[in-house]
Amino acid sequence: MDVEALKEEAGVAACAYVKSGMNVGLGTGSTVKYTILELGRRVREERLEIVGVPTSLATRDLAMEVGIPLADLDELEGLDVVIDGTDEFDPQFQLIKGGGAALLREKVVAQSSASMVVVADGRKQVDTLGAFPLPIEVTPFSYNTTKRAIEKLLGCKVAMRLSNEALLTTDNGNYIVDAHTGPTLTNPEETERRLLNLAGVVQVGLFNNMCDVVVLASSEGVSILEKGD
Ligand code: A5P
Repeated sequence: MDVEALKEEAGVAACAYVKSGMNVGLGTGSTVKYTILELGRRVREERLEIVGVPTSLATRDLAMEVGIPLADLDELEGLDVVIDGTDEFDPQFQLIKGGGAALLREKVVAQSSASMVVVADGRKQVDTLGAFPLPIEVTPFSYNTTKRAIEKLLGCKVAMRLSNEALLTTDNGNYIVDAHTGPTLTNPEETERRLLNLAGVVQVGLFNNMCDVVVLASSEGVSILEKGD
C-alpha cells in the first residue's frame, strides 16, 4: 500500500471521533487533510453539525473550500477534540510536530481541546523522539542569537528553515529553526522546558502529554492506539 493511501485511511478513520454539536480543532498537514475532506463531505451530505477551528491559514482555506463552518478559537469556550498529524510519536505518545511550520497554533489549539487524536502512518512511530529534526519557532528579532543558544543548549546542528531560498515565515510572522538532535530525546518534557527558557524561542515542536489516541494506518489496516495501552 502506498503512503498516500495509508494517510487517507488514517485521516478518514479519525472522523469517528467527531459528532454533531462538537467544536473541532482542525490540524495541519498531508494526513489530516483527508480528515478535513471527509468532515466536509459529512457536513454537506450527512448534515454533520460542527464548528471547526483551523490551526493554520492553509487549513482554514481548505476547510472553507469543503464547507466546514469555522470560528476563531477566542469565540469559543474550548474545543471537544482536535485531530492533527504528527512527525513522530513515542511509546508515551509524546510528539514532535511542526514539519509543516504550524506548531504554535497547533499547540494552542491542542491545549484548548478536551482530547487530541493524532493521525499517522507507521513511519511516524519511534522508540525515542528526535530522528525527525525538532522544529522550534523563534522571533525574527534575534534569530541568529537564539539559533546559537539552541545549538549550545542541545549540542547539535541547528538549521534555519527555508522556503524558496528565503527564510520561511510562519503564519505568526516568526521563523523556524530545525534542531538535528538525532533520536536522543529521552526526556522531552525537560527539553521543552529548557528551550522555552530562551527568550527568543516562541514555541517548541514537542507536544508533551497532549495526545490521547493515535489512529495508525499500516499495511495491516488501521489500529487505534490509546494512551496507556
Ligand atoms: C504541521 O506543522 C505539522 O505539525 C504536521 O501536523 C506534521 O508535520 C504532520 O504532517 P504530515 O501529516 O504531512 O506528515
